[in-house]
Amino acid sequence: MFKKVDLYYPTKEIKNKAWVKDKKIYKDAERNPIKFWEDLAKEIFWFKKWKKTFVHKPPSFQWFVEGKINITSNIFEKNSLGWEKIKNKTALIWEPEPTNEKERKLTYDELFREVNKFANALKRLGVRKGDRVGIYLPMIPEVIISMLACARIGAIHSVVFSAFSSSALKIRLQDTEAKVLITADGYWRRGKIIDLKKNADEGIKQTKVKKVIVVQRAKNEISWQKNKDFWWQDLIEKESVQCEPRIMDSEDTLFILYTSGSTGKPKGTVHTCGGYTVQAKWTGKWIFDLHHDDIMWCTADVGWVTGHTYGVYSPLLNGIPTLIYEGSPDWPAPDRWAKIIEKHKVTIFYTAPTAIRMFKKYGTEFIKKYKFNSLRILGSVGEPIDEAAWNWYFKKVGKGKCPILDTWWQTETGGILITSLPGIGPFKPCFTGLPLPGLKFDILDEKGKSLPPNKEGNLVLLPPFSPGLLRGIYKNPKKYLETYWSEYGKKVYFTSDAAYKNKQGLIRIVGRVDDVIKVAGHRFTTGELENAISKLSSVSECAVIGIPDEIKGETPIVFVVLKKEKSIEETKKELIGQLRKEIGPIASPKQVYLVEDLPKTRSGKIMRRILKRLLAKEKLGDLSTLANPESIKDIKKVVKVR
Ligand code: PRX
Repeated sequence: MFKKVDLYYPTKEIKNKAWVKDKKIYKDAERNPIKFWEDLAKEIFWFKKWKKTFVHKPPSFQWFVEGKINITSNIFEKNSLGWEKIKNKTALIWEPEPTNEKERKLTYDELFREVNKFANALKRLGVRKGDRVGIYLPMIPEVIISMLACARIGAIHSVVFSAFSSSALKIRLQDTEAKVLITADGYWRRGKIIDLKKNADEGIKQTKVKKVIVVQRAKNEISWQKNKDFWWQDLIEKESVQCEPRIMDSEDTLFILYTSGSTGKPKGTVHTCGGYTVQAKWTGKWIFDLHHDDIMWCTADVGWVTGHTYGVYSPLLNGIPTLIYEGSPDWPAPDRWAKIIEKHKVTIFYTAPTAIRMFKKYGTEFIKKYKFNSLRILGSVGEPIDEAAWNWYFKKVGKGKCPILDTWWQTETGGILITSLPGIGPFKPCFTGLPLPGLKFDILDEKGKSLPPNKEGNLVLLPPFSPGLLRGIYKNPKKYLETYWSEYGKKVYFTSDAAYKNKQGLIRIVGRVDDVIKVAGHRFTTGELENAISKLSSVSECAVIGIPDEIKGETPIVFVVLKKEKSIEETKKELIGQLRKEIGPIASPKQVYLVEDLPKTRSGKIMRRILKRLLAKEKLGDLSTLANPESIKDIKKVVKVR
């Protein structure tokens, strides 16, 4: 890339190859965004064309109404690149964590057969269209096969991140009322086997799960219950390699994925077959500039939306190989990822700022011998990327030639919505870039007034939104309305992010305006962590806040008031254990402070803002509204801030 003032632009090489290089696309799309998406949808295979492109009855909206589709047909037999052209091409590359184990590769045809066999097996177990299927699998090929098999027969997949605890799994299974769960015996993480089946067995208690399908991965010993547990391998053994796709309505649900939101309970975002397919295909093709010779590695776990869209659906819809890696990024040494990039000649690499910062901290020495010649395009997602991390990524990984796409989106949006396009630019560190063509974003003040450049406000998306935007929160229309369609009325999608744009219209994300914190790119609410802690009988009350962290972006800090006196060591141990049990190791707090009281308003609301300022050593402001200003003195002593 080359630099002009403080902006970067793509090199000639990148530009020449890019699918999109003419700025005109923005103006054309703006003129008629509905037609813009409609034209893109025409390049997708539909069993029956839609009747209306966009129907809006606020807050609900539909895309490609009455169109009939199946996303797996678009990946396999009806792929827009032509089945004959792609069927012997690699579709999936799997890299296991143990370095003495061989990678596994599947061609499109091989993957198709596995998907069909497993789809038939699911049918034989009684899974029908619209049934929810829980997937609690590590990063192994079967996680992709399971998702696609569900989609093939019209079952709704709901993937739960394999590092989530059994309690987190249970909450999700209870909400979806899934009857089948797909899991594994175990998997490798930092040289050790994690016993996943044990978690799964615990997680299905008090749920409707009657059947558990177990992939044999780590060959560890596991408990087994006849008529409930089934080996994956046994189930598919005699199944046919053919399975007709279930013809789905455009607005039928493709998957439910849980994310943290305004309350303690996770919300099931509902994504549909038609709109999601169009968005996954085209955002991948244009943003990562996917061509037939590309190999994409999106490092996100499939348990998160990034893994769903850019680890599975988008590369496969575009007929290119997707790479997945089972283990820890720096195992057995910090250059593990670098080795994988070189070994498989990855061309498109998509990761999170936390990972970049972690590698940067390891120093450049470990990365020196890698040339990364294959890399063409780099992406970043999930949290703001700071300038130092951006520059390191650009220079040390991209060797100054790869565009860095800072992509903004959310579990709710299903696909990337803001980023500059690689063939056009411009790219500016800390700015996610321009909204994609066809999207209308605005930045509003509290009253709903559109703000001029450089003024911070709430980021919103205006009609016709995007085809892949969530259609609901599973079984909770009230929450859907409250969370997304209330701040500025039913016609404006409220992102819960604060942002501003510069004079060129490039958007900078400032952060969440709700109580969501992003810890190493993972999304939690402070309320969800507080709920988990409050379940402990020893806890009287608690407050969780997120504070900036050099590597993870943000990290949780807990303030706790106990019912009876206990040592700080004991309290810490108990709290960390509880958060690991209720949510997972990624929710572990950086610090626990044992305090006598928490600052509250007269109506009893805990003032987290004050705690945050106190830790940041900022001015606390007016404390006269507090019911217990004396609490501050004690807290200052505990956190050792004057
Ligand atoms: O605050 C924004 C932040 O992540 C939130 C969405 O989190 P999640 O649903 O877990 O999805 C993450 C991956 C798609 C957003 O509301 N976020 C996401 N991308 C960026 C970002 N913040 C800054 N820059 C980004 N590129």
